Amino acid sequence: MDTKILDLFKKHGNEYLSGEDISRKLKISRAAVWKHIEKLREIGYDIEAMPHLGYKLKSVPDKMIPDEIRYGLNTRIFGKKIYSFESTDSTNKIAYDLASRGADEGVTVLAEQQKKGKGRLGRIWISPPGGIYMSCIIRPDIMPNEIQEFTLVAALSVADSIRGLTGLEAQIKWPNDILINRKKVCGILTEMKAESDRIDFIILGIGINANTNEKILPQRATSLKAELKGRISRVELVRSILFNLEKEYGIFKEKGFKGIRDEIKNLSATLGKRVKVTSYDRIYEGEAMDIDEQGALILRLDTGIMQRILSGDVVLVR
Ligand code: BTN
Repeated sequence: MDTKILDLFKKHGNEYLSGEDISRKLKISRAAVWKHIEKLREIGYDIEAMPHLGYKLKSVPDKMIPDEIRYGLNTRIFGKKIYSFESTDSTNKIAYDLASRGADEGVTVLAEQQKKGKGRLGRIWISPPGGIYMSCIIRPDIMPNEIQEFTLVAALSVADSIRGLTGLEAQIKWPNDILINRKKVCGILTEMKAESDRIDFIILGIGINANTNEKILPQRATSLKAELKGRISRVELVRSILFNLEKEYGIFKEKGFKGIRDEIKNLSATLGKRVKVTSYDRIYEGEAMDIDEQGALILRLDTGIMQRILSGDVVLVR
């Protein structure tokens, strides 16, 4: 019923809606209308009440409310089912458990903050309020060694969404970071459940320093708020990421990684740079030359040898 009342407000734009109108349209009593309005106010919706005129929705809260994200979300798979938490250990963990119990592709888990946010390589992902912490389930028909390509599908979706919404020049640092002005604004953690030759599911975990206070972020990190010198709508950004994920995933399913490779290369913060890459227990240094058709990084070592790296941790040397 809360959703239906919000829909009515949104359809009526900037106009007042009388309690009587709402009660008639939704076939509930005036007392019930009042109760729902009070509940929405408690969640953070600013609803004005004017004698003789009725109610008007003045602003919506910047909270990860599933109904707000779904409103105007033009997708068929991603975000059709959203779980949202005020606080949780890790959205990846929740998504993993849901997927293990058979949850569908596209199911999305969001949190306002995480108590044990997971980063790559066993690191911690600092997850205070104001950030975006989201995890999506996908069930692609691919081999486990192709998982790296999905990190790049997610990275492209996030970079495009940040660019589209804020105009900031977000770039992809292979394989899983988004940078703005050489500083990290987003990290992606891709986890999977697989057998030797088949993936059961993948969890795309996306952490964005959105309206995060940059003073509590690690060095060489930034937030969208710091770069923009103002807050952004996290709801709009999540909606845009879900839309772009569906688009890029669709292209991937149809054409494979080569369908998105050029776009990824165009937005790369890595290509053409001297980099140091830690991959498993080896460290390579050289010039990042290319991202190949499987999403691997091609590095020209100082010896002139071309080294292909499937996954790793990259530091931009200069
Ligand atoms: C990294 O750069 O190390 C990857 C960070 C990924 C963080 C996100 S936040 C949402 C999801 N849940 C987690 O626990 N981790 C990922």
